[in-house]
Amino acid sequence: MAERSAPVGVMDSGVGGLSVLAEIQRLLPNESLLYVADSGHVPYGEKSPDYIRQRLRHIAGFFHAQGAKAMVLACNTATVAAVADLRECYPDWPLVGMEPAVKPAAAATRSGVVGVLATTGTLQSAKFAALLDRFANDVKVITQPCPGLVECIEAGDLASPALRQLLASYVQPLLEAGCDTLILGCTHYPFLRPLLAQMVPAEVAIIDTGAAVARQLQRLLEARGLLAEGPARETTFWSSAEPDTLSGVLPLLWGRSGQVQRLLS
Ligand code: DGL
Repeated sequence: MAERSAPVGVMDSGVGGLSVLAEIQRLLPNESLLYVADSGHVPYGEKSPDYIRQRLRHIAGFFHAQGAKAMVLACNTATVAAVADLRECYPDWPLVGMEPAVKPAAAATRSGVVGVLATTGTLQSAKFAALLDRFANDVKVITQPCPGLVECIEAGDLASPALRQLLASYVQPLLEAGCDTLILGCTHYPFLRPLLAQMVPAEVAIIDTGAAVARQLQRLLEARGLLAEGPARETTFWSSAEPDTLSGVLPLLWGRSGQVQRLLS
């Protein structure tokens, strides 16, 4: 039986999940958090579902061994590939996955055209097709895989000319097609909001699901009587790549520095 004071495990293929971690910390400041960046295996976007499932089993095993009371897949690509498998492996463990915000975008669009920026893995998945079937019958959804963006963000590049050009090449066609609502379907992309704001008209809404994931975690913990009751403790970081790489970008992407330990894989 997990304790209220046990930590919550949060993972991503790399640094993208830090955008979700920030939302969790804002909403649930008393929770102790363990963050795993699977940076030795990033990007997930072009890997096979089977490969990603193996990675997620390894990371879930690690969180479980650390006594985590819940796990958050702060990664759309990991969720489509592996959340069902993890739910089978750990039927009694609260697991929070995430998916592109198709439902709120379909409700918000006035032009009737919605754009989705996400990884190839997410856009090609059956889970994403089911999401469109369920919520997007009355709108036109244009999907745009974005290879190359994740690698820039992993390196702490949020504004170089090369990145700007790559991002514009993905976004321009969506704007030209009349899209007034843009879904950020990968947790790395919220870090590009400042750059996006320079290339997207102000009336285009940009939606991500980090805050919704934090609320879902809150609901699950509350329902099981597992919400932490202060005081807040340290957030601890692990990486499956060289720890210095993650600690080097933490101040930029998390707003603070932090110690990173090596996750053996
Ligand atoms: N941040 C991840 C997502 O939300 C995956 C990026 C990647 O590793 O390709 O999909």
